[in-house]
Amino acid sequence: MLDEEKLSHSHIPNRLPHREEELKKIRYALEMGSGPLLVYGRTGVGKTAASRLAARLVADSTGTPFAYVNCSFSPRTASRVLSEIIRQLSDGMPDRGISFQDRLSLLGTMVADLDGEVGVILDEVQDLTRGGEELVYSLLRLHENGQAPSLNRLVVIYREETRPQFLAESSTLSFFTLKLRFRPYSQEQLVDILRARAQEALRPDAFSDDALREIARLTASYQEGNARYALSLLRAAALLAESEGSRVLDVEHVRRAEEGAEVSTVDLSILGSLDLHDQLILLAVARLHSRLGERWVTMGVLKEEYRVIAEGYGIPVFKHTAIWRRVKDLGALGILEIRRSGKGMRGQTTLISLRAPPEELSEIVEGILNRKVGKWPIRTPL
Ligand SMILES: Nc1ncnc2c1ncn2[C@@H]1O[C@H](COP(=O)(O)OP(=O)(O)OP(=O)(O)O)[C@@H](O)[C@H]1O
Ligand SMILES: [Mg+2]
Repeated sequence: MLDEEKLSHSHIPNRLPHREEELKKIRYALEMGSGPLLVYGRTGVGKTAASRLAARLVADSTGTPFAYVNCSFSPRTASRVLSEIIRQLSDGMPDRGISFQDRLSLLGTMVADLDGEVGVILDEVQDLTRGGEELVYSLLRLHENGQAPSLNRLVVIYREETRPQFLAESSTLSFFTLKLRFRPYSQEQLVDILRARAQEALRPDAFSDDALREIARLTASYQEGNARYALSLLRAAALLAESEGSRVLDVEHVRRAEEGAEVSTVDLSILGSLDLHDQLILLAVARLHSRLGERWVTMGVLKEEYRVIAEGYGIPVFKHTAIWRRVKDLGALGILEIRRSGKGMRGQTTLISLRAPPEELSEIVEGILNRKVGKWPIRTPL
């Protein structure tokens, strides 16, 4: 490896194969200030990367300042997101303790002072806990608030699996001059993306094309179109190859990296937006993995663990069919992996595995549950 950082989730590469069109459109809209943009699509399809790269290119060429806020990180309320936007655009001006309305006027003044030459990127709006609707509406109609010019360089990004209702309504949609859906990457496109990223991060002769194709194949079968998954697997396989002193990353490394579940395949920021029972189910799988040290758990064992945890929090539990439906949905989201048992087990049973590090997931979900329903196990079961 030349530069492991280049494969991290936070690195934004300068070249995004198969997103050239989208990048061009966003960049053009941000350059011209032609109106608010809506960017959406499934997880890992380059929404954040393309939007941030476009903003960076525009900021470099025109000097336009941009604020970027990921709403799934700590400032989850409308007011705090607004405060974060103001902070970024004003080099850390303190605005503690003022109301949402006052913050809005403050932003209006700032936009006016800059003659509207300013941009805001609002990422993962589906994760806003409260007032997401109000925030987006207010930004779309900032010009109605005093004499501010409109915020014509606004990019609103959401993940399509968890679209907030208000972003489906035509009254909201009509504000956006451009709506861009990012399609999932095909297997062939993933190979190109992997190659571009491998060229940045690895020595030129350190990876085989077959290995990249294997990663794309596995990605297509488990996590359709998700470049984040593909890159995680590339990174895990490269680390494995390096730790074994191999000179070249080959198909075997990829398969073993995938088997070893060392891949952090899920963007854990999605956890906050899930429903309470989905969170309980995931916590159950994570605790079972940690406790049993096994990669797969059976549906029966999972149901029992889910029941114990839910009751501990004082939450009434769902029955088998409802749990199973949720497990399947979590599988579709890519957080869980589901298989039918093969030989060696009596009859056929369903096996479930978490596609994320169990300890990390437990910590996050426990934090969310403590905020939502109080500390376990203080509440008494119903
Ligand atoms: N065309 C591409 N070329 C190179 N890397 C890419 C490309 N598309 C995505 N990536 C990389 O894949 C990862 C996931 O992309 P990104 O974070 O933009 O996804 P997203 O659509 O915002 O997903 P989410 O909805 O989960 O936030 C990032 O590390 C990103 O740099
Ligand atoms: Mg994103």
